[in-house]
Amino acid sequence: MEKKNIDWGNLGFAYMQTDKRYVSLYKDGKWDDGVLTEDATIQMNECACVLQYAQTCFEGLKAYTTENGHIVCFRPDLNAERMSDTCKRLEMPVFPVERFVDAVAQVVKANEAYVPPYGSGATLYIRPYMFGSDAIIGVKPANEYQFRVFCTPVGPYFKGGAKPITIRVSDVDRAAPHGTGHIKAGLNYAMSLYNIVDAHNKGFDENMYLDPATRTKVEETGGANFLFVTKDNKIVTPKSPSILPSITRRSLVYVAKEYLGLEVEEREVYFDEVKDFAECGLCGTAAVISPVGKINDHGKEICFPSGMDDMGPVTKKLYDTLTGIQMGRIEAPEGWIKVIE
Ligand code: PLP
Ligand code: COI
Repeated sequence: MEKKNIDWGNLGFAYMQTDKRYVSLYKDGKWDDGVLTEDATIQMNECACVLQYAQTCFEGLKAYTTENGHIVCFRPDLNAERMSDTCKRLEMPVFPVERFVDAVAQVVKANEAYVPPYGSGATLYIRPYMFGSDAIIGVKPANEYQFRVFCTPVGPYFKGGAKPITIRVSDVDRAAPHGTGHIKAGLNYAMSLYNIVDAHNKGFDENMYLDPATRTKVEETGGANFLFVTKDNKIVTPKSPSILPSITRRSLVYVAKEYLGLEVEEREVYFDEVKDFAECGLCGTAAVISPVGKINDHGKEICFPSGMDDMGPVTKKLYDTLTGIQMGRIEAPEGWIKVIE
């Protein structure tokens, strides 16, 4: 199989249309068999539930070429399970876990020519998603749905790759208490668009959201969870019922404890404590671990000792171990790696 002629090393985090995508339709209470198609467009009724009431959700995971030339996906079963949880909260039908994993594998295999080579710095980003597709005018869930998966080769989520970024404390809330912050609903991202544009216009890379009830505790950013490192090398990560349970964060917690022998605290993190941490990183599929150098709190700056030039030493160890597992350089825990045959 010949790879596409793509400048892998200079890819940003952007959409590039690839050859095949997967689609399965839900009607009369059941999912059809699903197919791969070359058609990247979707036609639907003007009153489709997704268009009127935002009944849509998505997932994000990646495929990698390993050191010995295999193509692998990282923990796709966890994305399938999280999408099931999201669907239940949005009154959408669950797409079975095994079928989700199989659909991801089919899409990666069909677009093998777009999977970035080992060592290129790029990866294949995979986007499973679902939406209510039939006409609904009263506020209620759709009767018909589409589950789809497409993929696109990507580079780093933040410009500059591993260079530390600057974020600001947000005045806008991301998720209400008892709301939808813990699921991957499209609506969580729609409400964040104003805020991310405003942050970029003011020179910040992302927003740090605090808990909306008290505005004293750290939640997450628009697209990643936080990991902090204390001055005595402990990992601290916020625990909250209104943040997305990041698969990257859960994997890093395991890596920190089991591979690096670090102590990990998953607990409420007060914003007041943040100034005392040694390192800060954003973790997610797209972000991997993006180091944060500086946090701007309404003009007051918190500058981490790790600085604005390089990742802090503990963040770097976590990054190297996780990406080592993903790229096949380090042995993975049982069940983390799905080889695409
Ligand atoms: N938090 C939010 C709001 C996200 O959108 C994402 C991205 O998926 C994450 C956290 C990180 O989750 P994961 O590591 O599963 O990609
Ligand atoms: C991911 O990391 O997969 C995400 O979904 C984050 C995103 C908002 C691009």
